[in-house]
Amino acid sequence: MSIYGPYEGTLDNILLDVEKRIRQLNQQEVASQQPKLYEHLIGRVKTPASMEEKCQRKNYPLTAESALRKCKDAVGIRIVCNFISDIERCLTILRNSDWCSVVKEKDYITNAKPNGYRSYHLILDVTENYQDIDGQNPGHFYVEIQLRTIAMDSWASLEHEIKYKHKIKNPERIGKELKRCADQLASCDIQMETIRQLIRED
Ligand code: GTP
Ligand code: MG
Repeated sequence: MSIYGPYEGTLDNILLDVEKRIRQLNQQEVASQQPKLYEHLIGRVKTPASMEEKCQRKNYPLTAESALRKCKDAVGIRIVCNFISDIERCLTILRNSDWCSVVKEKDYITNAKPNGYRSYHLILDVTENYQDIDGQNPGHFYVEIQLRTIAMDSWASLEHEIKYKHKIKNPERIGKELKRCADQLASCDIQMETIRQLIRED
């Protein structure tokens, strides 16, 4: 059995359920004449191998308790938005949803990481009709949500690709260029917001 123990299948279901809920939130927005909440969303259950690697890195025992409770990103959903204001709308709606509660927020948009990484991270505690690791049913499950714009997402995927490419000749230069690129994209996101606002005021 994997590090997730008997909960591996449950995590797949939690992912599907939460994705469905987020799609429904978007449908409600569109039905009430609001712009769509996001461009697309993508979810994954962290593979048992990378969860084991993470627990080892953090010096947690290799147990389902570590994988589901100490780590809170076994289930992850990335919501990729067109505009920064859409991220804010998503945040407001998620904070007010009764099927989840926000247990942690990290605002890497206001406070970008030193390398230029931008995103808004949430940890949700969702209540779903599955038995959790404390034997409760409905149970509690953590889900990590990453909210970013298309620009932030394209940057993160390039940076991720480079990070895991070994034997990079001049990491300093690349890091500096990447940071510059991240800041330019952030400035474009603000400009795009202004343009959208101008179109609305027409
Ligand atoms: P983990 O132990 O890796 O989960 O880190 P953490 O708990 O400090 O969480 P953090 O919010 O820093 O990052 C969680 C996730 O955000 C990562 O697994 C990535 O998907 C993403 N992320 C964070 N920093 C970066 C970054 O510098 N570059 C890219 N490409 N992604 C990042
Ligand atoms: Mg993580």
